Amino acid sequence: MAKATALAPSNIAFIKYWGKRDVRLNLPVNGSVSMNLSRLQTITTVEFGDDKKDRVVFDGRNVKSRFYKRVVSHLDRVRKLAGISLRARVATENTFPFGVGIASSASGFAALTLAAASAAGLSLSERELSVLGRRGSGSAARSIPDGYVEWVAGTQDADSYAYSFYPPEYWDICDVVVMVSKRQKAVGSTQGHALARTSPFFRARVRGLPAKLVRLKEALKEKDFSTFGAIVEAEALNMHGVMLTSSPALVYWEPATITVMQRVWLLREGGLESYVTLDAGPTVHVICQKLNARELSRKLSSVRGVVDVVVNRPVDGARIVKKHLF
Ligand code: DP6
Repeated sequence: MAKATALAPSNIAFIKYWGKRDVRLNLPVNGSVSMNLSRLQTITTVEFGDDKKDRVVFDGRNVKSRFYKRVVSHLDRVRKLAGISLRARVATENTFPFGVGIASSASGFAALTLAAASAAGLSLSERELSVLGRRGSGSAARSIPDGYVEWVAGTQDADSYAYSFYPPEYWDICDVVVMVSKRQKAVGSTQGHALARTSPFFRARVRGLPAKLVRLKEALKEKDFSTFGAIVEAEALNMHGVMLTSSPALVYWEPATITVMQRVWLLREGGLESYVTLDAGPTVHVICQKLNARELSRKLSSVRGVVDVVVNRPVDGARIVKKHLF
């Protein structure tokens, strides 16, 4: 059978996915909105063959563990759709460290979905790929379409998918990703989702989301950066409010996370406009307009505790590439 390789970006959510209404199908409680990231990507090669077991190699090493099981379950979904039982050889590489709150599962499962579907000879629409990617990891649904993406919550498997509402070149905003730790986080987002409902604030959060989503899309339409940024920042702090008040409490921040946020607020007061957002990890995503990205990157690199800064612009979603990893 043919070998296929796919490249997929990670994405940063402006309106977050936190809490599932169906764990098996990865149906979210609410719709979410994101942008694909140009410099945080995963590349994955898949080939189906006669081996007895699936083999998964991540950054040159054989993967066993929980991650292996998740990949095999996803390959099973693809095999079922394609009506094949062949085992797969999978190699995957990230351009960024694993498990530090930059949604490695989003790019990882988006790349795996596209590469495996293509290697299995399936020809799926973008919507079908997004649905399939979602089954692997919810946020992966959003790394399939291009640029600025909305994931509609839906009510069942087939109608919970993501689509592009603006191409990457629509608006040149940047995500300056400020990493403060390269250690793997203790509680992954899959476990975290299950705790969302234990927060007394969860219901209030969910109630406010539809209106917030409308306001965010309106700000995007108007290219009103100040309104857009204020919504994005408040939304991230709202989600972390739920995390902090779950039982057990989920505290993803490190001391340097707060130091970076405070620096951003100080710079903003001084006229360098930017806003923070964070996923399930200590990494701070600083959202700004392109003209300010370089200066912010330079200023934030020197903040105590910062280990790496990567400037991202919006990009296309998952795509097939010619160069294989094996
Ligand atoms: C905080 O997509 O990683 O980054 O569906 O269990 O794989 P699973 O969870 P995942 O959750 C991402 C949560 C988030 C917010 C977001 O990206 O919307």
